Amino acid sequence: MSDTVLRTEGLKKYFYTDRSLFRKKDSYVPAVDDVSIEIKEGETLGLVGESGSGKTTLAKLILGLLTPTAGKFEVDGTVGAVFQDPASSLNPRTVAYRSLERPLELHGATKAEAKDIIMETCEKVNLRPELLERFPHELSGGQQQRVSIARAIMLKPKLLVLDEPTSALDVSVQAQTLNELLDLQDRFGLAYLFITHNIAVVRYMSDRIAVMYGGKIMEIGDTEEICEEYKHPYTLSLLSSVPPLHPKDRNRKKFLLTGDIPSLDSGQKGCRFASRCRFAKECCFSDMPEMRDIGIELPEIQEAADTVSVKENEVSRGSGHQAACFFAGELEF
Ligand SMILES: Nc1ncnc2c1ncn2[C@@H]1O[C@H](COP(=O)(O)OP(=O)(O)O)[C@@H](O)[C@H]1O
Ligand code: SF4
Ligand SMILES: [Mg+2]
Repeated sequence: MSDTVLRTEGLKKYFYTDRSLFRKKDSYVPAVDDVSIEIKEGETLGLVGESGSGKTTLAKLILGLLTPTAGKFEVDGTVGAVFQDPASSLNPRTVAYRSLERPLELHGATKAEAKDIIMETCEKVNLRPELLERFPHELSGGQQQRVSIARAIMLKPKLLVLDEPTSALDVSVQAQTLNELLDLQDRFGLAYLFITHNIAVVRYMSDRIAVMYGGKIMEIGDTEEICEEYKHPYTLSLLSSVPPLHPKDRNRKKFLLTGDIPSLDSGQKGCRFASRCRFAKECCFSDMPEMRDIGIELPEIQEAADTVSVKENEVSRGSGHQAACFFAGELEF
């Protein structure tokens, strides 16, 4: 895998919903449908999308908590996990220390060895060791989440999956926790799959962003490309839902979504976003758009490089920006 810590290829998870006599036997929810992503050492891939778009299911597949319906994935070593609700991931009946000690014991550490690792880890995540003598309900949300983060990094993973890690925290603690995660990454070279429904948060945290809807990745690329040069109508709608970060974004047209995310079903044809897309045309309801490269084609970059200054790495790798929309690049936003 060289410097790649995660690679998924055509990963699918279908939840079979109704096998009753009178319904179609193969009725299912395509929660994750043909997802191929890669994360490099030390980088953050942000995964953003509304509730119900399949983010947690993808996270659980990668963590081995669910069996894929199809496709495959490869991870380099162990993967740590931090979930939205820290209280539910800590044992309410034991003090926090025990929640850290237990997984180490399962990996064969003695009590003394476990203690050393726990103390060292507490220091990394700015957790005062005396807090570990408390039960989860005696800790604040932020402190609970720090215990979860400590537990996730104790076994020295190269990749952390963070599923809405700050969504359940008070607003005042959210920013602090995000900054601590960035600091942790800086110091220890961790790679993150950072999951959130909030595009402003994902922009702050990520090197690259994958936008997910209806079990599929709709657009993927470098953070700046996705936030400034977005080509998918769904990305535009996510950006429209938050106040513009830069003054120049104030001119961006708004494309707010109405209604809930429609329920996914096995019978739906065409683009998953079609029922809510302002730009949908007939073909969008019958055919599924494939992911395709956006922006400058490689030969064009090469040509441009000969005449004007184009960064060398751009020539060699292309932009990596892809979108799954028939009209990506042609739409007037
Ligand atoms: N265990 C399950 N059984 C049936 N459907 C599920 C199950 N888990 C999730 N789903 C469905 O899969 C879709 C994606 O859910 P989820 O991965 O939780 O999305 P997100 O994390 O983006 O909110 C939703 O339609 C959800 O209802
Ligand atoms: S393929 Fe059609 S429905 Fe889907 S995002 Fe593009 S324009 Fe909208
Ligand atoms: Mg979720």
